[in-house]
Formats: sequence, C-alpha cells, structure tokens
Amino acid sequence: MVNAFYRWRRPLDVSALARDLESKGFQKIRDRYADPENKKGWPKYVDAENRLELAIRQARALELDRRRSLQILDIGSGAGYFLYICKLLGHQAIGLDLDWPPMYFETFKLFGLQRIIWRIEAFQSLPALQRKFDIVTSFAICFNNHGSQSVWGRNEWQFFLDDVIAHYLQPKGTIYLELNPEPWGYHTPELQDFFLERGARVAGKQIWLTPCSSHGPHRTFGSHGSGKDK
Ligand SMILES: C[S@@+](CC[C@H](N)C(=O)[O-])C[C@H]1O[C@@H](n2cnc3c(N)ncnc32)[C@H](O)[C@@H]1O
Repeated sequence: MVNAFYRWRRPLDVSALARDLESKGFQKIRDRYADPENKKGWPKYVDAENRLELAIRQARALELDRRRSLQILDIGSGAGYFLYICKLLGHQAIGLDLDWPPMYFETFKLFGLQRIIWRIEAFQSLPALQRKFDIVTSFAICFNNHGSQSVWGRNEWQFFLDDVIAHYLQPKGTIYLELNPEPWGYHTPELQDFFLERGARVAGKQIWLTPCSSHGPHRTFGSHGSGKDK
C-alpha cells in the first residue's frame, strides 16, 4: 500500500525515460557500442529500457523514492543507470569506477553525472574526497576480485568497510552491497559471519550495514531484492 503510494507519486515511467534518453542522443551510444554477440559483457548496457527498469527497482528497494535529498556514492557504477534514477529522484549522486569502457564515460555525460575514476585494490584506501555520503551503494560487485582465485575474504572486506566508514560515510549513513555469485555462492560461511559480526543484515547477495544507526544494526529498506546480477 505504502509502496503503491510512492509509485503513484513518483511514477518513473521506463518507456518515457528511455524516449527522453533517445531524444538526447542515446542512439549514438547504442550504435557505437551495441554488440549482439556479447550478451554478458558491458555492451549489454546499451539496452537502456531494461537497465532503467532494474535501476528503478534498485532505487525503490532502497526507498530512495521517498527520502529527502541524499548524498549517494555508487561504487563500481558501470554505465550509471542507478545514479541517473537517483538524480531524477532529487538526490546528489556520484559514481566511482575504472576508466573503462569508454561507453561509461559517454553515458555519464549524457546522464549529466560525475564519477571518480579509481581502481579499488585490496588494503588500499579510497581517494580522499571533500564530501561524505548518506548512502554508499555497490551493485553486482566486481572490485572484490569477483570470479578470480583471489576473491576478497574477511580481511580485505574489513579494511574496505573501515575505510568507507571512516572517510566516506555520514555518521548515520548506510552501506548497501550486492555481491556477485562465486562458485561457492555469494559468500562463504566465514564471510557471512564477518558481515553479521559487523552488525550487517545479510540476505543472499544483499548486505545492509548501518554502522551507527539509532534503528539498530538490522535496519533494512524494501524487502524485495533489486534484481539481476551483473
Ligand atoms: C558487473 S559491473 C556492475 C555495474 C553496475 N554496478 C551495475 O550493476 O550495472 C562491475 C563494475 O565494477 C567496476 N569495477 C571492477 N573492478 C573494479 C575496481 N577494482 N575498482 C573500481 N571499479 C571496478 C567495473 O568497471 C564495472 O563498472
């Protein structure tokens, strides 16, 4: 009922949003980067309608359609669809990602968004910024060496979370992470225990962490997952 109210108040019509992007020149990006042979890699992000739909689900699951204007950082921001929806909802949103592929540079420009170019490495601090964020998100995470023989364990995550909390997060800020599946699942039992010890709520690929919340450690947003991996 409550969700229906916010859907009515902030309709976010995918077709209309996709048409708007077309009118701003999205077709040039699609023409340059579409690759029907590569259905799993980054060229799939030229499917704006599909990606906007997922981004809207993600934003609604985090209740960003009903909150005051927030400072949001999305790590591994990809093409930027989630941040674009955040921006349309009135938030101040910024990305952090590698400087590749060039398509992401073009989508960020079209969406009118900014990003920090940075490669996250285990046990290395993120770049110094002059601002802090109410929400730090990361969807379909790859910076943890996803898919390799050296996927991050508790020590790498501990360093990363401590760094984000100390330097990037507002005192009552929230970190929301979505892991990608590894051969053993989204996390080992040891890693799940680590997140739980930190006061996180863990549900499959989803991890919510509100280090200093007055709501207690298990404050979560919408109960539904935001959708696909990668
Ligand atoms: C699977 S994509 C997900 C993109 C976006 N979050 C989404 O859900 O559509 C993973 C993203 O993480 C970025 N990434 C991978 N390794 C990274 C690293 N070490 N540091 C920063 N970004 C990284 C990639 O460039 C890519 O944009």
